[in-house]
Parts: sequence; structure tokens; C-alpha cells
Amino acid sequence: MKRVFIHTFGCQMNVNDTLRMSEALSSMQYSPTPTAENADLIILNTCSIREKAEDKMLSALGRYRQVKLQRGALIGVGGCVAQQEKNRILERVPYVDFVFGPDAIQKLPEIIGRVEADRVRVVETAWVDSESYVFPRADPNTSRGKATEFITVMKGCDNVCSFCVVPHTRGREVSRPFTEVLQEAASLTTVGVREVTLVGQNVNSYAGGISFAQLLLRTAQVPGIERVRFTTSHPQDLSDELIEAFRIEPKIMSHFHLPVQSGSNQVLERMRRHYTIAQYLGQLEKLRAARPDIAVTTDIIVGFPGETDDDFEKTYQLAEQVRYAGQFSFIYSPRPKTGAAMREEEWGSVAHDVKIARLERLNAMQKKISVEFNAKFVGATVEVLVEGSSKTDATRRFGRTSQNTTVNFDGDAPIGALVKVQIQSASAASMSGKQLSVDSLPAVMIPEAMVAPEVCVA
Ligand code: SAH
Ligand code: SF4
Ligand code: F3S
Repeated sequence: MKRVFIHTFGCQMNVNDTLRMSEALSSMQYSPTPTAENADLIILNTCSIREKAEDKMLSALGRYRQVKLQRGALIGVGGCVAQQEKNRILERVPYVDFVFGPDAIQKLPEIIGRVEADRVRVVETAWVDSESYVFPRADPNTSRGKATEFITVMKGCDNVCSFCVVPHTRGREVSRPFTEVLQEAASLTTVGVREVTLVGQNVNSYAGGISFAQLLLRTAQVPGIERVRFTTSHPQDLSDELIEAFRIEPKIMSHFHLPVQSGSNQVLERMRRHYTIAQYLGQLEKLRAARPDIAVTTDIIVGFPGETDDDFEKTYQLAEQVRYAGQFSFIYSPRPKTGAAMREEEWGSVAHDVKIARLERLNAMQKKISVEFNAKFVGATVEVLVEGSSKTDATRRFGRTSQNTTVNFDGDAPIGALVKVQIQSASAASMSGKQLSVDSLPAVMIPEAMVAPEVCVA
């Protein structure tokens, strides 16, 4: 057996793609290893959403060069930077052996075969056309040891948000037929998975034979599936039908990630987001009426070209008014071939120190609100799906609430159990408590999770 180490950067799509890469490689007798040092093959599954993500990839590559020198390991670059930079990666980094885009995952054995046999460097970044694209089917054995798993329901993005590189790195939207999604959910239950998160860059425009709301409802009906989540939604396609699904299906968890990006309509227009703040707030109101305990989280970009103090104040006030349970805020980073990068001079760059100051203000406010949000649960009893031992203290357990907050707790329930936990304390990022009772055990006992592949959120 040879060993492969895959370093994953970026979003859940990449996390899931990494699993598909391991499966494709198992046909070549590669088994996953948790450390690069003993690997025969090192793959970086990259993200290019911000410049920093690319920098992280380059510094990781620098570290893995040693392994190549010592053991002759092959090094491959996949994911979004691969799709964006293609053969430029080979030109820039002489020790990279092959580059492959997100559509070439299933071709990995063939690519590596060519590299090994012919001692050539390979670049494979052609798109598979939408009609003939077949989504790789997950092998449930890859998910053994996990209570929760992702299911890819669509790929690509047909929007043209002016800051975003994803349409260039992931291509056109293709939805996975709903029957395949339901089959995958059912197959995951055979290894003990009880929660699934349906993932895509823009799940609200899912078109795999039924609406996205129907897909959620049907997934919730799969025997053995107790919890359903999804990400990411674009506010422009959020339908009343999806909001209604929250009212009628308790297995859909009380968490909605709805990236707003900015609180200023002028900025939203330049971002090409196609909604106004009034429309966004209207949707939130309906959502909260349908599911009063819902936790709403968001993404915000600060320092978008032309963002004035007044625009930023609007964002700050919006976040204060909405009281998000969590907020992922980023400094704007110009990306190749995007509308905003091309018009930055015309719209005007925001000074770096101004961007930092805005980000810090938002983060400080959000931290306070997140603490308050979680503090409301202190003393209450919540339901948690046990995912394993706590990352900070191996003698404790951890899982997540319906609202997606991490709970570390004293208890002994096995992975996959749904337990009642009494919350004793809370911080901005997590809560702590003690197990009161076990509500239900998984139909299949799940072995303690093996070491997961290294993931680095870029
Ligand atoms: N499909 C999702 C977004 C995926 S990218 C959606 O439409 O909401 C995740 C987040 O990265 C975005 O929501 C945005 O806040 C941030 N992001 C994307 N491009 C960026 C850029 N050029 N600079 C800074 N942040 C960016
Ligand atoms: Fe990027 Fe916009 Fe598509 Fe999200 S919806 S992936 S931000 S282009
Ligand atoms: Fe995901 Fe990053 Fe690509 S966020 S889609 S891995 S650019």
C-alpha cells in the first residue's frame, strides 16, 4: 500500500471533494495518512477565494518540498487555485508534478499513472460539459466513524457577484439528480451517519428534478436521517417554499447561513447581489416567523471598492439590528478576472488600515452578540448529536446544537447518539455542559473517528 496525504483548504465543497479524491486513489492502492512526512503522494486541495488562501497554499507547498526531496513523494495541486492558475503553477513551482481542476477528480488515477509511467508533468483542467457531468458517488465506507457528513447537491455558480472568483474556478451550475442525493443519504445511514449537510455554492437555485425545499424535505424522510442542514444560500433565490420547509419539518436544523455581504444598497449593487437590504430583512422576518429559534449567520466583506464610511456604518448597523448568531467577515481581496478587480481604480480602493479598522469593529461587536446569543442557553437543556471526543479535552464529548453551536460536555454517549445536554456556560464560539440523558442511539454503532484529513479554512 502507498500512502496519500491530502491537505484541504477552503469550503465544504473542497472537504467533500477530498473524500472523493481518496476514493479515486484507493483504486491505485493508496491509503490516506494523517501526516505529510510519511506520504508517497501529497495533494493540496486548494482555495482561491481570497489572496491569503493562495498564500497559504504556497507556504504549505514549501513545507512539502522537503518530503519530496527526502522520499521522492509526488506532489499534486487540485481545487480552485489549480483551475485558476493551470500550468502557471508548474512554471512557478518546479517541484509540483501535476495540476488538476475540480472536474478532473475522477481522472486522478489516470493522471498519476501518466506522471509515474512517463515521468511527465501533467495539467488537467478541462471542464466536463454540463450535460455529461456525472457527480462522483460517495463510498459510504469513507464516512465510517462519522455521525455527520456532507452531500454535494450541485456544483458551480451561475451568479456573477463582482468580487467572487468561484464562477471562474467551479464553472457553470450543474445540479445533481435528486434520486442520487437521496440514495447517497440512504447509503450513509448504513455506516451510522445521522445528519447530512447538503452543500453547493448556491443551493437555492438547485434544479435536480425537484425544488431545493422539496429536496430538503425528501432527505429528512430518508430512514435513519435525523438531522438535515445545508449551505450556502444566496438571498436572491430564497423562496417562500424553503421558508415553509422550516415550519413543517423539525428535522431541518435551526440554522440558516445567509450571506449579506454589505448593509449598503449602493455597495450591494456594485457587488451585483441583486437584492436590497429591505428585501433581505423581509426574508429574515419570514424565516424567524416560521422558525422562532433559528440561528442566522452571515458573511460580510469590508473594504469593497468604493465603500465609504457611511456604507460601512450601514453594514455595522444592519449586523447590530439582525443580531447574527455568527458572522464571517473578510477584508475585500481583489481576485483575477472579477468585475470588481477590473473596476477597482474607477470605484476607488479603500486604504488597508481603514479595512482593518472596519473589520475589527465588526468582529468586536459580533463577539459580544455571539456571547449573548449563546448565554441565553445557560441553564437550558439542548439536544446534541455526538460527533466524538472534544477537541480541547479528550475526556469530554462534543457535538452541535440544532443552531449549529459546538457543545463540549461531560458524558459518555457514543458517536451518533442524540443526547440531552444541560448547558452550564457559554462563550462566543461554543458552550459547555453535562449530559443528562441519551435520547437515541444510531442503528449502527459508529467506531471512534479516525484521524480526519488536515483541513485549513482559508
Ligand atoms: N456562494 C456563497 C459564497 C461563497 S464564498 C454566497 O453566495 O454567499 C464565501 C464568502 O467569501 C463570501 O460570502 C464572501 O463573503 C467571501 N468572499 C468571496 N470573495 C471574496 C473576496 N474577493 N474578498 C473577500 N471576501 C470574499
Ligand atoms: Fe460567488 Fe456570488 Fe456565486 Fe456565491 S453566489 S459563489 S459569492 S458568484
Ligand atoms: Fe470553495 Fe474556495 Fe473554491 S471557497 S469553491 S474552495 S475558491
